[in-house]
Amino acid sequence: MSRKTYYITTPIYYPSGKLHIGHSYTTVAADAMARYKRLQGYDVMFLTGTDEHGQKIQRVAAENGMTPKQYVDRIVSGIKDLWQMMKISYDKFIRTTDEEHAACVQKVFKALYDKGDIYISEYEGWYCTPCESFWTETQLVDGMCPDCGRGVEKTREESYFFRLSKYQDRLIKHIEENPDFIQPVSRRNEMLNNFLRPGLEDLCVSRTSFDWGIPVSFDEKHVVYVWIDALSNYISALGYLTGNDEAFRRYWPADVHLVGKEIIRFHTIIWPAMLMALDLPLPRQVFGHGWLVLEGGKMSKSKGNVVDPVILIEKYGLDAIRYFLLREVPFGADGVFSNEALISRINSDLANDLGNLVSRTVAMIRKYFDGLLPGQGEEGEFDAELKKELLGLKHRTEELLDNLQFSLALTEIWKAISRTNKYIDETVPWILAKDESKKGRLARVLYNLAESIRIVSILLQPFMPETPAKIWDQLSIDSDETGWETAGVWGVYKPTRPVRQGEIIFPRIDIEKELEKLSSAVPDTGKDGPGEKGDKKHRSRDAEGSASGDMTQISIEDFAKLDLRVAKVLSAEKVEKSDKLLKLRLQVGAEEKQVVSGIAQYYSAEELAGKTLILVANLKPAKIRGIESQGMILAATDESEGKLTLVTVDGDISPGAKVS
Ligand code: ME8
Ligand code: MG
Repeated sequence: MSRKTYYITTPIYYPSGKLHIGHSYTTVAADAMARYKRLQGYDVMFLTGTDEHGQKIQRVAAENGMTPKQYVDRIVSGIKDLWQMMKISYDKFIRTTDEEHAACVQKVFKALYDKGDIYISEYEGWYCTPCESFWTETQLVDGMCPDCGRGVEKTREESYFFRLSKYQDRLIKHIEENPDFIQPVSRRNEMLNNFLRPGLEDLCVSRTSFDWGIPVSFDEKHVVYVWIDALSNYISALGYLTGNDEAFRRYWPADVHLVGKEIIRFHTIIWPAMLMALDLPLPRQVFGHGWLVLEGGKMSKSKGNVVDPVILIEKYGLDAIRYFLLREVPFGADGVFSNEALISRINSDLANDLGNLVSRTVAMIRKYFDGLLPGQGEEGEFDAELKKELLGLKHRTEELLDNLQFSLALTEIWKAISRTNKYIDETVPWILAKDESKKGRLARVLYNLAESIRIVSILLQPFMPETPAKIWDQLSIDSDETGWETAGVWGVYKPTRPVRQGEIIFPRIDIEKELEKLSSAVPDTGKDGPGEKGDKKHRSRDAEGSASGDMTQISIEDFAKLDLRVAKVLSAEKVEKSDKLLKLRLQVGAEEKQVVSGIAQYYSAEELAGKTLILVANLKPAKIRGIESQGMILAATDESEGKLTLVTVDGDISPGAKVS
């Protein structure tokens, strides 16, 4: 009989800049699953890759003076280097610029067209000529181009559309009948309530305004919309619609698509609708994980936190980083990344709990038995309890991993590690060692420690590609004692070779000193990590990276001194004899405040009433033209163009809400 298969995917990454530690989150999680399933004996297909088309890439490439292909080739090789460094055990790396992929996408597009699920029509929207961008009504900011702030013209672009609306009812039904399809549950409700039930519109699936994409085979002035292109990777990678679709027949449907929460919508609405249109089975699950954010905001390098995975791995080791990513945050929730949290995890969980357990055990076997235990010795008190805890561990870990609960699985493993450490305190081997008649008991105690470590080390393999082998080496655990299934059996370890003290697996870090070093070291000092080779120019423009350019850096503590609040304008009036100043009355929580602001040339008193603004609430009050001003409202100015626009909030929030 053929083996059971397991097909897991990550999103394919945009090669538009350097990857930070947040990007590696999805991939490390997928890798842990792939390793786990392989250890269980599954025939695993683990797919990752890059999503290389679209206007954004075309633009970034042009800014760097390269063709899109030259640009992506360079970044993609950096991404591959990073995955290699992180020991990501993918079975296939797909690039959407691969010929086989492009051919598959063209066939998919044509098949949907032939079926009548793709049709030609007109895309109506707003066009910004200087930017060459189409915008929908809702994307405009005060009727202007959201990118450059200039005027836009109403335009029509001939486009192909996908009949997404046709699949609405089937999608709702599928999601309702398959509770595991979208996980976690909160994401499922969000998709149903916010997108599906209100109704789906047909989707514009081709563009003519740029050409870095896959041409529509029967109408070459159109390129296929990037998401149609990108999502198809999950089947094109398996050879779907090519002469050789053996892998497709073997692995499809996917067991799980792992994705970040911002792209769940594409994976649980557009993608399943495409599959329905192609008469293909749907993936069993789409799991949307949360984001790794930095204290007070998005991943960025300007906050004294090192987020470059290469630097982090070089400093602390791969397994420590992978452990942190998978342990710190329950998979599904957002989590905060900080160097401090990372170092304290390394110290407490890795150096202390696990590292010490191994080194103490090895040291005692060496000290009391010259490194070689004389068999299993005599049973005694506490043995049964330890054995019970360790014997149930494999099952508990598997159950949690099957639900992608990495953090909980690691918590279980660490409970067992703690239980084992407690066993040392209970049995006090150094006291037993003083009494020659207790040698048999001492041997048993040390055997039980080694056996517990063996079980733990086997179960750590999905998470840590390096540490288990180091442990096996020190304890002289043979390869026939490390099979996945043997983690559920007690008494497998056979002391036939002496143990040997190796190097410390996880050295302790002096947290104070280290944090100081990290905050003074400008992370990213011209060091070329994977993903970006000396690409300074782009770095400062990357929307997801640092936006601060060359500005002086401040610490989070500095920033925390600002008390920024949402404020609602109750009324506004001109300050007499001034053509610049307006006096505003603001609602800030229960309080009312008065602020004088130099915005009269940009805003009339009438249009300000009712606006929701951001107030620096703890600015020392000042008198301006004899009027007290209790704070300052935030505005963005472009001096070269003589423009000013007030900072407002996106969405409904009560006045007084804190901004951070
Ligand atoms: O979305 N924390 O690519 P991408 C956690 N090309 N995850 C993060 C993260 C963070 N700080 N930053 C990014 C795309 N990610 C598309 C996918 S799939 C057919 C097409 C995750 O490079 C993000 O959530 O913008 C996503 O899952 C992955 O990195 C790739 O993001
Ligand atoms: Mg993204």
